[in-house]
Amino acid sequence: MTWNTYYTGTGQPRPQAWLPPAPPWRTFPRQSAGAVFQPPEGLTEAVNAALCLRRPLLLTGPPGSGKSTVIEQVALELGLGPVLRWQITSRSTLADALYRYDALGRIHAHRLSRNHDDASAVVDDIAAFLQLGPLGTALLPTRRPRALLVDEIDKADLDLPGDLLDVLERGEYTIVELLRESRAAAEVRTWDSGAVHLVEDGRVRCSEFPFIVMTSNGEQEMPPAFLRRCVRYTMPPPTVALMRDVVARHLGLDVPDHSPEAELIQEFVERVGAGETVAVDQLLSTLHILNGTPVTDAGERERVKRLLMKDLSRA
Ligand SMILES: Nc1ncnc2c1ncn2[C@@H]1O[C@H](COP(=O)(O)OP(=O)(O)O)[C@@H](O)[C@H]1O
Ligand SMILES: [Mg+2]
Repeated sequence: MTWNTYYTGTGQPRPQAWLPPAPPWRTFPRQSAGAVFQPPEGLTEAVNAALCLRRPLLLTGPPGSGKSTVIEQVALELGLGPVLRWQITSRSTLADALYRYDALGRIHAHRLSRNHDDASAVVDDIAAFLQLGPLGTALLPTRRPRALLVDEIDKADLDLPGDLLDVLERGEYTIVELLRESRAAAEVRTWDSGAVHLVEDGRVRCSEFPFIVMTSNGEQEMPPAFLRRCVRYTMPPPTVALMRDVVARHLGLDVPDHSPEAELIQEFVERVGAGETVAVDQLLSTLHILNGTPVTDAGERERVKRLLMKDLSRA
């Protein structure tokens, strides 16, 4: 039983009050969501087609349908390394996703070192002020393709999808700041924490196209030239059988027929089928709290359910 009155609203300190253990997806060290993902019908074919063709996979579907989690499972199964994540906003640019150059920071550091008494302390290493972004890191030469998530691409500026495809067709880019300074080689920080890569002659070219998953909530239509170069898959509405598997994987819970938990799953599937926006994680959270809680207060149970299972498209 997870549900209890921890906070009472009396303002009386109870520093030793018992708190419940966190749900498995809110504990440290963070567990990979990929290990417990259950692919809906047809998704594995779409992933395999994208892998075979070395083309991006475009996943469309409502919030909470599992789009951002798919790549975790693919990377985990196929040993593609930690997933590189590029979270798109209306301000995202292709240049920032390739690399960033901190020109101001470099000028500042140069000035500081010039003020130093010791002349040998004057350093001006451009590499310290360059960092590859998620896309720039995904295009580094590697033995296995890297996994790159381009999350919520429909939030992008209109030009971004086209610009991105252009880079992906070529599989290479140039760091003009290194070219300009005729640097033969520079150790540049990558998007992976702490790692550096030796960039020669200011050019980066992949040896394998990365495995890319792009997600979209369908807020914006993508141009046909973009769609032509992707494998597309729309997350289907959830089924009772799939949700039972998801619940079993996440919560280790075998839901008996005709139980309150089975009813909750049924209701979730019906609501999503009727066009409401309710996410899988809302169902999991509700089951986590209510599972095993004796229905002593049916009113409270109903209130908790309503609180957690609210339609996401409404206030
Ligand atoms: N088919 C599924 N199997 C297992 N977990 C799922 C599934 N679909 C969604 N989830 C869980 O629901 C949550 C939301 O998924 P997420 O990938 O963030 O959705 P989206 O990117 O579509 O908004 C995650 O915690 C994920 O583990
Ligand atoms: Mg997402």
